Amino acid sequence: MDKKKLENLEVHLKVDEKIYPPKEIVERAWIKDYETVYKKSIEDREVFWSEVAKELEWFEPWDKVLEWEHPYAKWFVNGKTNITYNALDRHIKNGKGDKIAYIYVDEEGNEEKITYKELLEKVEALANGLKSLGLKKGDRVSIYMPNSIEAIASMLACARLGIIHSVVFAGFSEGALRMRIEDAQARAVITATYTKRRGKKIPLLPTVEKTIDGLDNVEKVIVWDRDKEGVAKDRGNKFVDFNSLIEENRGNCPPEIMNAEDPLFILYTSGTTGKPKGVLHTTSGYMVYTYYTAKIVFDLHDEDIYWCTADIGWITGHSYIVYAPLVNGITSVIMEGVPTYPHPGIWWEYVDKYKVNVFYTAPTAIRMLMKYGDEIPAKYDLSSLRILGSVGEPINPEAWHWYYENIGRKRCVIVDTWWQTETGGHIITTIPSYPMKPGKAGKPFFGIEVAIVDKNGEELPPNTVGYLVIKNPWPSMMRNCWGQPERYKKYWTEIKNYYNPDDLASIDEEGYIMIVGRADDVISVAGHRIGTMEVESAIVEHPDVVEAAVIGKPDEVKGERIKAFVILKEGVKPSDELKKEIQKTVREILGPIAIPEEIEFVEKLPKTRSGKIMRRVLRAKELGMEIGDLSTLDD
Ligand code: WT7
Repeated sequence: MDKKKLENLEVHLKVDEKIYPPKEIVERAWIKDYETVYKKSIEDREVFWSEVAKELEWFEPWDKVLEWEHPYAKWFVNGKTNITYNALDRHIKNGKGDKIAYIYVDEEGNEEKITYKELLEKVEALANGLKSLGLKKGDRVSIYMPNSIEAIASMLACARLGIIHSVVFAGFSEGALRMRIEDAQARAVITATYTKRRGKKIPLLPTVEKTIDGLDNVEKVIVWDRDKEGVAKDRGNKFVDFNSLIEENRGNCPPEIMNAEDPLFILYTSGTTGKPKGVLHTTSGYMVYTYYTAKIVFDLHDEDIYWCTADIGWITGHSYIVYAPLVNGITSVIMEGVPTYPHPGIWWEYVDKYKVNVFYTAPTAIRMLMKYGDEIPAKYDLSSLRILGSVGEPINPEAWHWYYENIGRKRCVIVDTWWQTETGGHIITTIPSYPMKPGKAGKPFFGIEVAIVDKNGEELPPNTVGYLVIKNPWPSMMRNCWGQPERYKKYWTEIKNYYNPDDLASIDEEGYIMIVGRADDVISVAGHRIGTMEVESAIVEHPDVVEAAVIGKPDEVKGERIKAFVILKEGVKPSDELKKEIQKTVREILGPIAIPEEIEFVEKLPKTRSGKIMRRVLRAKELGMEIGDLSTLDD
C-alpha cells in the first residue's frame, strides 16, 4: 500500500464515548495509575520486567534480562525454572494445595473439581508415564483433546519434562491435524475417544487413526478412554490407555530444569495463504508475561473465580486458561460444549452458579447470544461479575454496550484485549482502573511501545488508519516459526525494524487505539481503503442485524465496490426497504464511501473454527474463483 492510499484510509469515527470504571473496581485494582507505571516501564524495560519476574520462583536467577539481536530476543538469559513448578508446586508449598484449580463443567451440568495438589499428582503421574514411553525433553507431542482437565494435564505433563507440546484444536479435521503432526514431527499424539458438543459425542479417535496412517513419526497414541471401553487394548501396542498410564506411574516427577529460552510449545496459526505457521514460544518470557498480564488486566486476586470461554486449542486457551491462571494460583471454570446448548442462557447460568468474577470471551459469542434477547441474561444473578474481557476481533460498539449493560449491568469494566498467537499475551487493552472507550481496544500494556505507521514505518497523524507496529521486543514474543525461519524474520523486517502484526489500526488524540482489522482484509473503493470489519461493525449497528461480512467486488469505475452478506435477527423479514435502511446506517456511521452497494441476506457465514469470518470464501464464491485451503472452515 503506498502513502497516498494510506492517507485515503482515513475514516472518521463517530465512536468516542468514554466510560469510567466504578470506584470499587479502581480501589481494588493492583494498578491504579496506568500512566505513571507505563512511563516507568518504558524508561527502564529491563528493570520493570525483572521486578515482575522476581514474583515467581527460579531454580537459578538470570544474569541478563534481555539480549536483543534484531530480530532475535533472549529474555532472562540463563535463568532456570519450570513453568509447572510456578503453576503447581509453588502454590502447594505456600499452603494452597487444597484450593480448587479447575471446575470443569459440561453442557448437562456434569461437574468435576480438581485441587492444585490433585492436579500436580495427575501431571506428575502422566509425566512419569510419558517418560516410560521413552519421551524426553525437546521431543514434540501433539495434543488433540476436548476442553478438559485431562487436556490441561497433558500440556502440563509435557511442560514438566520439557517436551514441546503442539495442541491442535479438536474441531479441526484430518487434513489440518495431519499437517500439524507431520510438520512438528510429533513422536506421540494424546487424544480422547470423543468430545461433547450440543449433547452429542463427536468422535476424535477415528480421526487420529486415519490421520496417522502413514505418518511414521508417530510412535504412540495415548487415548483418554472416556467411557472405559478398552479402546486402546483393541488396537495394538501403538495405542496406550491414558488412565492406565496415570495409574501405573503414580509418584513424584521432579520438574525438568528448563533454561529460560528452552521451547515450551508450538501452536499453529493460519496465515493469509498457504501452510499454517508453527509459532514457537519459550519458557521464561512466556511465563512472566502471561502471568503478569492476567494479574493486571483481569486484576486477579487470590479469591477470584475466573472463566475464559476459549478452547485450549487456541492461544487464548494456552495463555489464559492454562498457564496464566495457574501461575496466578486462582480458581478457573472450564466448559466443554457450546454457549447455546441446552439453552442460550447456559453461560449466564454457570456464571451465577459458580459466582464468576472475571469472564473472558469473544465478540462473536456476544453477538450470537445478543440475538436471543435481553430477557435471557436477565433471568440470572450476575452480580459476582467484576471484569468482562473481550478478545479475537474488534468488538463493535453495539455488542460492547450489550455486554456492558446486560451482562455487566453497568457495574463492571470491559477489557478489550488485542493480541495474537505470536504475541503470547495481551498487547493493547485498558486495565480495569482506566477509562474505557467502546470500540477502541485501549493502550499498550506495560513495556510495550506501539505506533501507527505507513508502509515505510513513518508515523501517521491521529485518527488515520495505518499499520499497527510494535517497536520493541517483549518477554512473550514468538521466538521463531517452527521449521520456517524466513517467515519469522518477515514479521520484523517488513516495516522498518518493527514487529508487524499485519493489522490496521488508528490512534486518537488521547492515545486510544482502535483496531480496524487485518491488513489483508481491506477493500479499496475509489482509492479509499476501507476495513471490512469496520463496515461490518457499522452494519450491525442496525437494530435488525446480528452479523455481517463484507467483501470487495471488482468495479469498473471504482476499482472495488462493497458487497455485504447480512444475518438478520430472528423473526425479521428481509426486504429492499431494510437494505436501504442498512445502507443509511453505514452512511451515518462511516460515510458514503463505505456503503455496501449490494446486500444479500443469508442464514450463515463461513467461519474459521475460532469464529472469524472467512471473507475470502465469500469473495471466491461470489467471483467464481478457487476457494483454496478450507481446513479452518467450520461448517
Ligand atoms: C488477530 C490474532 C489473541 C487471541 C485470539 C486471536 C485479531 C485479536 C483483537 C481485539 C481487534 C483483535 C487481530 C489479530 N484480534 N484480538 N481485541 N480487537 N482484533 O488470536 O488467531 O492469533 O488472531 O486477531 O486481527 O491480529 P489469533
